[in-house]
Amino acid sequence: MTGDGTHQPGIVERPPAQLVFTAYDLTATDPATARAALTSVLRTWTPAARTLMAGGRLPGNEHDADGLGPAGLTVTIGLGATVLGRAGLDNQLPGQLAPLPAFSTDALDPARGGGDLAVAVCAEDPMVAFSAARQLQRLASPHARARWSQRGFLRTAAAATDPNATPRNLMGQLDGTNNPTPGTATFDTAVWAGADGPAWMAGGTYLVTRRIRMLLDGWDRLSEAGQEHVIGRRKTDGAPLSADPDTATETTPPDLAVTTADGALVIPANAHIRLANPAFHGGVRMFRRGYSYDDGLDATATPDAGLFFQAYQADPRTAFVPVQRTLASSDALTAFIQHTASALFAIPPAPRGGGYLAQPLLET
Ligand code: HEM
Repeated sequence: MTGDGTHQPGIVERPPAQLVFTAYDLTATDPATARAALTSVLRTWTPAARTLMAGGRLPGNEHDADGLGPAGLTVTIGLGATVLGRAGLDNQLPGQLAPLPAFSTDALDPARGGGDLAVAVCAEDPMVAFSAARQLQRLASPHARARWSQRGFLRTAAAATDPNATPRNLMGQLDGTNNPTPGTATFDTAVWAGADGPAWMAGGTYLVTRRIRMLLDGWDRLSEAGQEHVIGRRKTDGAPLSADPDTATETTPPDLAVTTADGALVIPANAHIRLANPAFHGGVRMFRRGYSYDDGLDATATPDAGLFFQAYQADPRTAFVPVQRTLASSDALTAFIQHTASALFAIPPAPRGGGYLAQPLLET
């Protein structure tokens, strides 16, 4: 693993255009075998991921990524709560991995969620991302089999006028504006696990994934002004509706108290950015790093496309859970989306000094 030597790669870097996210289940049926299998998989994946990220080749006869550089490849590995139970490591289970509660608007498919292990592969190139994900899958066999996978995409750096600009989602909004900034104290507190969990997770983080289908046909029937009221930001440049339209920019802070001459809130009471604002959730923040997905048409020729929401946080119980509870009950966006899958993974810190990922967990 590279990253910054403390945290795993694939979290703070600018997200490359391609994501291949694969969740796995161990095949072992008893705790001792499961623990040995988990150790073996993580011992194998750690150097393999390091080699792939450096643009090296793994032994084997794949040639699908020949002639291509690493294309910003990152590999981020996670552990689900189930794997700790399966491997007899319940006494090391972080409270932060408590199952997410059911939310009122959930329409979850369990076959597309959960999992003992997760591997998020990101790269600028789709062949590089596929090849790396596939090779890691081969290396995990026969100890682990893939449970579900999700491909995601963002605009490419090559096509973007400014590759560092906030990317747009499939509803056309700038998505990621009010994220904590990596490298700041706010980010560190929001994202990295502290001393209130097991030692093996110190410096790690927790990843919530939600496959959120966008009901794009209904969304498209809204006027642009209607769409802006759902979010609370201008669609063209992401400026908050509360600001002076002539001078506001994406980074102008929203003022949630501003009203029109007749007393109506300019950022409506049910606007997404109002209800998700940290001010209403004890100041707690999360770091969103979602990808768009497009899984074609369903049986009724309706697009199955949307947001593969990913949020890194120090504790989902005080970040994702209260925010999603509020959004599910009141968010204007709820009429235009459907949460179809959910997962939660512990993302351990990067291994130290030639060790393997989560070694302190497995060798205690
Ligand atoms: C398809 C579903 C979603 C869409 C299209 C969406 C879109 C957006 C957009 C356009 C913004 C404003 C720009 C920004 O700050 O990034 C935003 C902000 C935000 N969203 Fe979402 N979002 C979705 C789901 C969620 C979910 C499930 C959560 C968490 C439970 C969430 C949490 C947030 C937060 C915390 C902010 C920042 C609010 C602020 O402080 O201004 N979003 N979202």
